[in-house]
Amino acid sequence: MVVGGEETLRTLADLAASSSPPCSRLQSILQAIHDRHPHYEWVGLYLLRGQELVLGPYVGAPTDHTRIPVGVGVCGTAVATGRNQVVHDVLKLDNYLACSASVRSEIVVLIRDAGRLLGQIDADCDQVGAFDASDEAFLEQVAALIAPLLRVGYP
Ligand code: SME
Repeated sequence: MVVGGEETLRTLADLAASSSPPCSRLQSILQAIHDRHPHYEWVGLYLLRGQELVLGPYVGAPTDHTRIPVGVGVCGTAVATGRNQVVHDVLKLDNYLACSASVRSEIVVLIRDAGRLLGQIDADCDQVGAFDASDEAFLEQVAALIAPLLRVGYP
């Protein structure tokens, strides 16, 4: 659950509006989410390239999942269905790609720009049920902030 999301969003809006290069702004935005909301133990972006998701900037442990086919895992399912994914307990999923054995819950929120799917925000936590509707609403506002940066920084 997100506590203080409105204050974080004000900070993220300032970061998004800075004069730094788009990729630096995106990294700073992810770092701010990670630092202000402890349950975002891993938070990153996947960019949609054809029928594949390609890992972009992230904060947290390195992952082997740098390319994910649409339809595979939680990330690929979000794109295939066109719907955000809020997973209470990843161990109950059949279609899941484990980044580490300790992860128990995950959220994926799609990033769209003028109706076009650009990619997604993905976050993991080692606690079961760490993410809920407040996280989805928070990340949908983050997605709206970063969509223009993706359009420029990762065309
Ligand atoms: N768990 C994701 C893969 C990405 S790692 O979490 C960074 C999935 O099942 O698609």
